[in-house]
Amino acid sequence: MQNKTLWWRDGVIYQIYPRSFADSNGDGIGDLPGITAKLEYLADLGIDAIWLSPINPSPDVDFGYDVSDYKAIDPKYGTMADFDDLVKKAHQHNIHVILDLVLNHTSDQHPWFIQSRSSRDNPYRDWYLWRENPKGKHLPPNNWQSIFGGKGWEYDEKTEQWYFHMFYKQQPDLNWRNPAVRAEMMSIFRFWADRGVDGFRLDVFNEYYKDAEFRDNPPKWGIRPFDQQKHMHDTDQPEMMGIVEEIRKILDGYPERYAVGETFMSGADKAAAYCGPGKLHATFNFSFMHNFWNPAGFLKSVLDWEALLTEDSWPNYVMNNHDNPRSATRYRAPENDERLKVAAGMLLTLRGTPFLYSGEEIGMRDISVSRSEIQDPLGLHYWPFNKGRDGCRSPMQWSTARYAGFTNGKPWLKAHPNFIKRNVELQKADPKSLLNFYCALLRVRRANPALQQGMFVPLTYNPQQILGYLRQTADQTVLVALNFGKRKVKLALGPRLNDANWELLLSNKRETTPKVERGWLQLMGDEVCILLQK
Ligand code: GLC
Repeated sequence: MQNKTLWWRDGVIYQIYPRSFADSNGDGIGDLPGITAKLEYLADLGIDAIWLSPINPSPDVDFGYDVSDYKAIDPKYGTMADFDDLVKKAHQHNIHVILDLVLNHTSDQHPWFIQSRSSRDNPYRDWYLWRENPKGKHLPPNNWQSIFGGKGWEYDEKTEQWYFHMFYKQQPDLNWRNPAVRAEMMSIFRFWADRGVDGFRLDVFNEYYKDAEFRDNPPKWGIRPFDQQKHMHDTDQPEMMGIVEEIRKILDGYPERYAVGETFMSGADKAAAYCGPGKLHATFNFSFMHNFWNPAGFLKSVLDWEALLTEDSWPNYVMNNHDNPRSATRYRAPENDERLKVAAGMLLTLRGTPFLYSGEEIGMRDISVSRSEIQDPLGLHYWPFNKGRDGCRSPMQWSTARYAGFTNGKPWLKAHPNFIKRNVELQKADPKSLLNFYCALLRVRRANPALQQGMFVPLTYNPQQILGYLRQTADQTVLVALNFGKRKVKLALGPRLNDANWELLLSNKRETTPKVERGWLQLMGDEVCILLQK
């Protein structure tokens, strides 16, 4: 088994949505000096890396996911000097820095696109996907759709052709088949790696290539037009594998760099195919975000993922991110946060890199936005069926101060009114808080190699209520027992562990080691119990 430590494999990655994390200059938008000022907090929490959602200049149609310059910092977040300072100070705290690279599409305000749309013979024309339909100029080139609503093609009157956009029409897709585009994209990895960035999160990377012949996607049943087709020709094209290998080669030219890919629309099987030796270090597994509060579902996700990954690939788990309702909201977590402790107990002890999303550690809930408050164009488009993603993007709740201590100005998105009771300051002071439980879990994880690198060995479980598993290395066995229900319940440890001696590493319900009687471990309702075999 692996012994050498590797930050991205053994550590915990914390996602920051910079707009909403900490505002240092009172303009209502979080920024880089704001993040730097919170490094102490992050180091105390015990995470190993921060992933920053995009900080490149952007007109913010999709809040940073529409980039207009890949090699610069958006002035609303600060300067390049602020960025260098953040990286330097993060490293002093042993915190690695991961940037979000949005390379499938640019902003329509990117100089490349402005050039590209200016005329058919502009040298940048072929940097994007321009087409026409021989059957008539007002017919789109094929049936591809945009996930954000409507056709995937936008007609340009001036040059009488259509360009493709998988997302908003202000996010034209790049033509990765053009060698100049490909070379430019690769130079972006080098640019940031040279500045000391430790890793990259690749936004919708399996979208980079589209079918060379632009064939129609075949139909299937679905509610939205986007779902009424199999995304056979606009996603997961075979050429992508070569790119994944090229990215890996570049990163392997630097010490301990990392890339995690966001596989858009694909299940765990596709995600698994893109990661491993010579490919990306990891691809996200989002299955936890679709599970109900039920141990059977989580266990199935884990076993499916373990079965799909090759021996040398490393799993990861995500409960929250900037695109989905927060877990506290999804699981209708009671206000005492005990259920969230169980969720954290699982996420941070499985075999795989855990990703946390800021605010998760204090149990932030989604805000509810009215029509007039919506910021996310997705919500504007689909209201009232889909209110968009603002719910999980509200300002980080630091204190009871005005606007949750996030800003001295007026925040770009309102804070959740529960910040008065739910914030970092209050939870730091309460030994039983969710925040202190996360800190304790992260300490236990760091101190016990089995929880980082150990094998995952599921024990018998009761599909309605409990999940128990071992994490094992040659030298260490840790037992994790999780009670998903409110009732007391017993976990059967099985004959091999009948006579084992245990030491309590952590529980949210007890201070001393529980008795294991005739191979049964009794758990309290909502209990996370982590034991070390002696
Ligand atoms: C990814 C991002 C999402 C963004 C989209 C387009 O899915 O997570 O926030 O809107 O890509 O870049």
